[in-house]
Amino acid sequence: MRVLGIETSCDETGVAIYDDDHGLLAEALHSQIAVHAEYGGVVPELASRDHVRKLPQLIRHVLEEAHCTPGDLDAIAYTAGPGLVGALLSGICTAHALADALRIPALAVHHMEGHLLAPFLAGEPVSFPFLVLLVSGGHTQLVLAQALGQYELLGDTLDDAVGEAFDKTAKMLGLPYPGGPALAKLAAEGDPQRWRFPRPMTDRPGLDFSFSGLKTFALNTWQRCEQSRQDAADIACAFQQAVVDTLAIKCRRALQETRCRDLVIAGGVSANQALRQRLESLCQQQGARLHLPHPRWCTDNGAMIAYAGLLQLQQQRQVQSQPKAFPRWPLSALSTIHS
Ligand code: KG4
Ligand code: ZN
Repeated sequence: MRVLGIETSCDETGVAIYDDDHGLLAEALHSQIAVHAEYGGVVPELASRDHVRKLPQLIRHVLEEAHCTPGDLDAIAYTAGPGLVGALLSGICTAHALADALRIPALAVHHMEGHLLAPFLAGEPVSFPFLVLLVSGGHTQLVLAQALGQYELLGDTLDDAVGEAFDKTAKMLGLPYPGGPALAKLAAEGDPQRWRFPRPMTDRPGLDFSFSGLKTFALNTWQRCEQSRQDAADIACAFQQAVVDTLAIKCRRALQETRCRDLVIAGGVSANQALRQRLESLCQQQGARLHLPHPRWCTDNGAMIAYAGLLQLQQQRQVQSQPKAFPRWPLSALSTIHS
């Protein structure tokens, strides 16, 4: 079986073809960084227009690279949500038009389900249950993945998502969009001893997060110093350490509470090296296995959507698929709309 995956939920146009025998046959990714950079963040209308412009050529490209014709495809999987509604609709319309013309199923995929399956794209089989730390621009969640489409939310952020906190703190320090990777790079030049930022909500029970206070703490610290490059690096370093420590403390708690032996980390922030290293040593201490996506599948991509679609087909758990966008779509609601 062969599935074409289409991802257009935010500012990357991702397309890929995944085959159940041969794995990933081809993938193409177009980043809109250049489109949004001058605005310092994603402009939704520009994102939609750019997806519409780029999708046809990316689809042609992956078909050629995979040596396939459209007739070789068994299904088209697409991100139905959550995300920016106009951006989502550009992928949804393309997927449904293609699937209707080819008389094959169009499969709605939850963007975060795509992310949490990304560590298994490289060939290691998916084995439920596992614990997931989902960390992206819009999400910071601890999730118990019980089966495909069945996710229990254990902890969530009460305010900013961790990627959002990285992006806002980076902007404040004068770093270019997208801020997360830029802040992580600058943090490597910082002095880890100079500041100690709080580890929010770690002194009380539970698995929820809060990152907006940490961002304000960074702002206050920045306003109290000379704002040199070294000051920015020291703040980036202290901020990243606080985020990584906080996430690790909650992961340890979740591993102990659920007695899960497998931890998956997924979403854009899972590309962060400091976080990857910290969770690697946490899992060693706890006798658990850490499953990390390959760096190129941490941020948004079409491969994770094609793969999630293939699992839906294989397990006959297809999400009911009308051409409809779900801009806000809790992962825990997924089981209720599986057909
Ligand atoms: O999953 P993703 O590509 O898009 C969403 O679904 O949100 O995640 C993007 C987020 C952005 O906030 C970006 O700044 C952050 O992931 N990010 C990072 C790193 N790479 C991407 N944050 C920290 N360190 C990184 N290396
Ligand atoms: Zn994402």
